[in-house]
Amino acid sequence: MKNVSIDTITQAFLDYCSPDTDPRTMFVLKKMVEHMHAFAVETQLTHAEWMRGLKFLTDAGKITDEERNEFVLASDVTGMSSLVDMIGSQHDGTSSSVLGPFHSVGAPLLPVGGDLKRDNDGATVVVEGHVKDLNGAPIDGAMIELWQTAENGLYYAQDSGQEDFNLCCSMKTGADGRYAMTTVKPAPYMVPDDGPVGELFRATGRTPWRPSHLHFIVQAPGFKPLVTEVFANGDPYLDRDAVFGVREDLIMDYVEQTDPDLLPDDLEVGRNVTIPYFKVDFDFILVPETE
Ligand code: BEZ
Ligand code: FE
Repeated sequence: MKNVSIDTITQAFLDYCSPDTDPRTMFVLKKMVEHMHAFAVETQLTHAEWMRGLKFLTDAGKITDEERNEFVLASDVTGMSSLVDMIGSQHDGTSSSVLGPFHSVGAPLLPVGGDLKRDNDGATVVVEGHVKDLNGAPIDGAMIELWQTAENGLYYAQDSGQEDFNLCCSMKTGADGRYAMTTVKPAPYMVPDDGPVGELFRATGRTPWRPSHLHFIVQAPGFKPLVTEVFANGDPYLDRDAVFGVREDLIMDYVEQTDPDLLPDDLEVGRNVTIPYFKVDFDFILVPETE
């Protein structure tokens, strides 16, 4: 096309692509370019503004390495990660939520009732619940992974004072679908804000804080894997999570308890918990692979 104009450039892009392009790839690319071109026209984007956007991407590339991915963080803080997540999980099971960058493969396996808190500072939290199917039946042999921050708001990977895999575990449910562990109350924390994403936060007056949460992956044969987080009712950042991960069904109560006789009988720590301690009951509902 020789007479490319504001009105024809989108069609020119499409015309230049091979008709043999994979149909789904072509469809997604077409929509993306249509929306990008419309965005430039609607905003009457200036050259300087576009260059600023490209500088953001260039800076993100410079700070990204094996340990840190600023592009994923940009996807998280613009809501794209959560949006894609919600599009892919429209069902009656437990809502999914962002994975985040601190999941480690190979966390130690704890028995049901095991102690994850060990010598970590902070109040004891007993987390307990069942993994169920959509009919409420318990799922035998579900694998649960849990990871969280310590009381100082840091994951072990961010804190040389913590051992590898501190506050990370996996656990397998029995025939009753039950899981239970003792751990510590996690704290709210900030997503990394020392790169271009931090500049975006400051330019828009946003907070980099996330409400405190426990991360979970729950998997069982025949069911869709669930990547999710559970949040504490009353957390000051529930309504402005930097990465838009909060869903109504993922908010739980940390119920304060002082009576050790109310503890489950099978805890590795027995009755040896802080007083007060906190009790969290949370069930996971998995959807069949076929839904
Ligand atoms: C997290 O929850 O660990 C997290 C999620 C998204 C970005 C940064 C951290
Ligand atoms: Fe997290």
